[in-house]
Amino acid sequence: MKERILVTGGTGFIGSHTVVELQNSGYEVVIVDNLSNSSADVVDGIEKITGIRPDFEQLDCLDFEGLEKVFAKYGNIKSIIHFAASKAVGESVQKPLMYYRNNLVSLINLLELMPKYNVKGIVFSSSCTVYGQPDVLPVTEDAPIKKAESPYGNTKQINEEIIYDTVKSGSPIQAILLRYFNPIGAHPTAIIGEMPNGVPQNLIPFLTQTAIGIREKLSVFGDDYNTPDGSCIRDYINVVDLAKAHVVAIDRILQDKQNEQVEVFNIGTGRGLSVLELIQAFEESTGVKLNYQIVGRRAGDIEQVWANPDKANNVLGWKAETSIEDTLRSAWRWQQKLREDGIQ
Ligand code: UD1
Repeated sequence: MKERILVTGGTGFIGSHTVVELQNSGYEVVIVDNLSNSSADVVDGIEKITGIRPDFEQLDCLDFEGLEKVFAKYGNIKSIIHFAASKAVGESVQKPLMYYRNNLVSLINLLELMPKYNVKGIVFSSSCTVYGQPDVLPVTEDAPIKKAESPYGNTKQINEEIIYDTVKSGSPIQAILLRYFNPIGAHPTAIIGEMPNGVPQNLIPFLTQTAIGIREKLSVFGDDYNTPDGSCIRDYINVVDLAKAHVVAIDRILQDKQNEQVEVFNIGTGRGLSVLELIQAFEESTGVKLNYQIVGRRAGDIEQVWANPDKANNVLGWKAETSIEDTLRSAWRWQQKLREDGIQ
């Protein structure tokens, strides 16, 4: 029998790409998602790509009884990948309690249920946001955790601590924390991708919406940072590459390969790109000219951060493979597909 993985937030951007890669690797998946920031059509998309329809339960991870029923119904859940979370930095400043409740209680519910249902491990979606502005670049996993700039960032830090404390207390679970850098792009089939709600806050969806004419101009937030061209630097990681890191993490948990009960890995390319370099790469790889202007800095932005992914490369045996050009072309194809489908 194939091993079953519970993917919370499995119809979201990173979740959906991960379900595809899990199914391609032979895992059986049940998705739990409340569809607060995604659509049930994504399940059709996953089936179209893989030929397999994942099980889907529309449910909020805050609903402890509902979650318990899922564990009871699918008796063979071996591991969890926990994506379900609120993730808009700005909104988290406006609605801190909503962010703390959604992001902390969901994880607590899962951790409480895991031992009872013999779920061996959990892969948690963490973020490079836990490093704040690192003192040393590229940043390694043992860089100090800096005070979070937003409630959203704080939920990532606290959730990491909740997992460490739970394991320390003797809970028989395994955990892998994946600290993502900036996930971008879409599946090469353009059947699934990122679906921003309202005006996108993140760079790539705003950029592709500008390129297709939904937005008039992309604002580049600041060109007076202490970087070679003055704009901020990030490590943009292809979403399919990122999804594959989750499959490797699940293999590692289920095959008893972990060196410690909780392990943490940076998931990035190891290459920093500035906002202006990214715009140039987009124009060169798609042939589309982008209308943009330099504006003031955005409050709370980190100046520059990129990963040292050596640990993931050497210990997990995972490496980012897709070029930035292919990644940006995939984001552009996805935007064009949304237009063809009359969605955006
Ligand atoms: C932020 C969070 C990250 C979170 C992610 C998801 C921090 C430090 N980082 O990433 O943890 O996972 O959001 O929402 O809290 N930019 C523009 N114009 C735009 C949009 C963005 O110039 O219209 C620039 C930003 O200034 C930044 C870069 O593009 O330099 C990337 O921004 P964005 O895509 O929003 O991601 P982060 O802020 O890096």
